[in-house]
Amino acid sequence: MKILVINGPNLNMLGKREPEIYGQETYADLVDYIQEAARETGAEVEVFQSNHEGEIVTKIQEAYGKADGIVINPAAYTHTSVAILDALKAVALPAVEVHLSDVTKREAFRQISYIRPACEKTYMGMGFAGYRQAIVYLTGQYGQ
Ligand code: DQA
Repeated sequence: MKILVINGPNLNMLGKREPEIYGQETYADLVDYIQEAARETGAEVEVFQSNHEGEIVTKIQEAYGKADGIVINPAAYTHTSVAILDALKAVALPAVEVHLSDVTKREAFRQISYIRPACEKTYMGMGFAGYRQAIVYLTGQYGQ
């Protein structure tokens, strides 16, 4: 199974960014963690990060006919982006939403997820482990 993992804005700053919320580990550590989860499950995983909404939309569109599933942490775009929601709906691939932090316990503006209606599952507040759960879910549902 081919899975595209998409990370949105500021996730490249992991390790430096608000470590009390997002932890001390870096973005490179996250990519290593995701690739290890991929090896465990037998999935082929590509990891993509962008700070730009349009690039994320284009990447989702390009997954059409190539990837079998999408794991996405849209970061701040979670709470604003109809364009990312529409892109996920357009490609209609099984998608899972991930957040490192538990957004339900944070500010009011983080309580809305525009992309959730296009996702089968949401994992949040589990740190890196949420990405592993998402990959395990997709491979469990749709095969290795
Ligand atoms: C986040 C939560 C978002 O509210 C925030 O804007 C992020 C990261 C998370 O992984 O916890 O950038 O998606």
